Amino acid sequence: MKRGQFSSRLAFILAASGSAVGLGNIWGFPSKAAENGGGAFLLMYLFLAFLLAYPALMAELTLGRHGRSNMVSTLDSITSGLVQKRLGQLTGIMGVITATMILCFYSIIAGWMMAHTLASITQTLKMEKIAEWLVTFSLWRNICFSTAFISLTLLVISAGVEKGIEIWSKRLMPCLLLLLLGLIVYVLLQPGAEEGLKIFLVPDFTQLADPQLILSALGQAFFSLSLGVGTMLIYGSYIRSDENLPVAGALVTVSDTGVAVLAGMLIIPALFAAQHLGADIYTETGRLISGPDLIFHALPALFEGMGEAGALVAIAFFTLMSIAALTSSISMLEVPVSWAIETQKISRLKASIAVGVFSILISGIISYKFTSIFELVVVATTEWAQPILSLMLCLFCGWLMHRNHLLDELKQGVPDLESGLFWRIWPTYVKIFCPLLIVIILVQSFLPFS
Ligand code: TRP
Repeated sequence: MKRGQFSSRLAFILAASGSAVGLGNIWGFPSKAAENGGGAFLLMYLFLAFLLAYPALMAELTLGRHGRSNMVSTLDSITSGLVQKRLGQLTGIMGVITATMILCFYSIIAGWMMAHTLASITQTLKMEKIAEWLVTFSLWRNICFSTAFISLTLLVISAGVEKGIEIWSKRLMPCLLLLLLGLIVYVLLQPGAEEGLKIFLVPDFTQLADPQLILSALGQAFFSLSLGVGTMLIYGSYIRSDENLPVAGALVTVSDTGVAVLAGMLIIPALFAAQHLGADIYTETGRLISGPDLIFHALPALFEGMGEAGALVAIAFFTLMSIAALTSSISMLEVPVSWAIETQKISRLKASIAVGVFSILISGIISYKFTSIFELVVVATTEWAQPILSLMLCLFCGWLMHRNHLLDELKQGVPDLESGLFWRIWPTYVKIFCPLLIVIILVQSFLPFS
């Protein structure tokens, strides 16, 4: 069977940025920045994104293009001996499971975004009852919309790499950027917004040493670049051999962090504009509100206060969120689907349906037991599994992939690689510094004073 391949560098950049740019950037990043001292968090995030997440991203892309297959088969192909092989398989399988579990909780949140988009539309059409149901938290609303969202994801993935992932990333990413820029301009013109912009951009350096801030920024950087679970590895396996990987990876990192910074310039000023209209934007402990209260209470209060234009702004905002979520979820579903196609030898259509239905079931269970399971799944997958699996991938790339193989792989797209800065720093970096830094940050989160 012929493997899929991205048709150009732009196609890869759009697909990989589509994966990277998601609810994590537009919701997670501004929320965490608001909780952790605004500009100080931004600085730490930028620092970790380029110094830790970018080298780890390069490890995944290189492994993927070298293996030209899913995470399990790739790790199997670079290992030798029983212990190494078992470790490789275990890491690969954990990646596939983690990616599927992330899709299951992500689809619930993405479903809320779709429900709010529809609610803003039905509201303008004066269908009050339906709008009310759409914005009210309920088991059935959650199940209906997460199912609809996974089904959409399934449709894209079943069409394959070029006709599904590539085409939809090319269509949706420009829309996303336009909506985001339009909303920023509009919100910054609202009274009160300027104060939010200051809070977001001016760092409070006293917060920089807070261990919680560092852990939070690390988790955010790994989640945002979709690391650890084989998403970037499988996208890397679809890049052409003559492509310059270090540059492609850098462009993805820049666009991902760029969108996160832009989203901060939208959400935090919007919060302060909402305050100007009378909304309460601080919690009882005096911190800025974050999480669902921010997106589903404070911002809608702002939209309502904007009069006629508010309805349109609300539709634009929730459409932006839904698009960002879709280009990310397709990359999550591709992980188990490519694994099923390549190791179980079934067709793409069958694999997409099987994994899609399975994810719908699991996400239904998470919705059903929301209060007890949801948070647990989020923490287990994003705060633990992702950094640990990413650590493993750095170790596989740094220690088990032969240095000459690494060099040959990267040289196909960069003939003069050996004379450049990247090759002088990155191999040792990914072998020693990345794993060490990840371990230090994880261990310190255990310590009693953190
Ligand atoms: N990076 C995306 C976001 O910021 C989410 C995402 C897509 C992801 N693929 C992933 C997260 C794989 C973890 C693993 O929303």
